[in-house]
Amino acid sequence: MDMPRIATRAAWKGSEIDYRTEMMHRFTDDEVAEIDGALKACGDRDIAEISRETFPLPDMGQALLGLRDELLDGRGVVLMRGFPRDRYTADEMARIYVGLGVHLGRPVAQSWYGQLLGSVIDISDVVEKVRGYNAGGGQHFHIDTSACDIVSLMCLRRALSGGASRIVSLSAVHNQLLDTRPDLLEVLYRGYYNHHHEMDAKYAVTAPLSAERIPVMTQTDGRLTGVLDSGNLRYAVQMGGVTLDPVEIEAYDELQRIARSEEFFLDMNFEEGDIQFLNNRTIMHARTNYEDHPDVARRRHLLRLWLRVDEWPARLAHQLFLTDADTTNWLQNRRPFMELPSKYLAEMTAAQEKRRREQTVLKPGQPSGTFPSARSWQEERDGVLAAR
Ligand SMILES: [Fe+2]
Repeated sequence: MDMPRIATRAAWKGSEIDYRTEMMHRFTDDEVAEIDGALKACGDRDIAEISRETFPLPDMGQALLGLRDELLDGRGVVLMRGFPRDRYTADEMARIYVGLGVHLGRPVAQSWYGQLLGSVIDISDVVEKVRGYNAGGGQHFHIDTSACDIVSLMCLRRALSGGASRIVSLSAVHNQLLDTRPDLLEVLYRGYYNHHHEMDAKYAVTAPLSAERIPVMTQTDGRLTGVLDSGNLRYAVQMGGVTLDPVEIEAYDELQRIARSEEFFLDMNFEEGDIQFLNNRTIMHARTNYEDHPDVARRRHLLRLWLRVDEWPARLAHQLFLTDADTTNWLQNRRPFMELPSKYLAEMTAAQEKRRREQTVLKPGQPSGTFPSARSWQEERDGVLAAR
């Protein structure tokens, strides 16, 4: 199999990088003024109505296109810092964030209920059966869905302590595997079956289980492109009837082991108002454990965008699992203004107060930062863990 080494700036090691000098853009006073003007022009529009026309950035738009090139052909990571968070309400910050995002790409829905702007916050004691981004604690390395080219976070509120964004270059991990375990790298090029989340599948137009294995890595024009939504691999095992062979388990575990070694990963501690953009084809992300506030309204709260970039070379068809057609179909469940932080936090606070009153507060699940082996997915399915 042809698996050439990635010899571009995309292959970096966290231990050799200072993100403050190599991956950071500091907002200038002129940029803040231009954004402030765009926010006034935008007014109180719904998130779905924010576009390059309704949030005009004639000067900064050009700078953002330069940052987008850095995501595609540079390090794959941009952190924008220095925005005066304290001058704006949370809802204004949400509109500003989306307003910047639409100059990079097209926001797509992030789950079956159609949110174009996600809230990454721990509500696992309030809402049943939440996904990873609505649970607390650490998270292991993954790449978000193939429907998204740039995954982005804005920090509205920090945790009491901890909760760093941990990222790793898939290209660097690729090269390490090439040197040490090319046999396992081949398994990753072949890939794994993927399966949609149960409710996502109900509103998706593609089949719940992929017809073929989806490559974790492919290369075109010297660029590596990755897909590794570990949730989708786990659902394939637990809902799709897929059984991984020992070498498939070893390849997944070895990829995770390299990614979480100090030499390879990079931790970014968010300040309030920070915006992080990641190339979701080349950067894996995770999060460190953290300590949070008991009240939902004062918890660590990040906003998330999934951006599709139509101007980038298209992903290879055989690596697409969740598609544009799926995320577009999810929009049927979207309610106007539902993503605004004020509305979202009011709903969650009311739900938390109700649970406290009725003494039905949920016990948070096991944080996924425990880095399970892929073996545990089928052990869990087959009841081996329960029987022990
Ligand atoms: Fe993620």
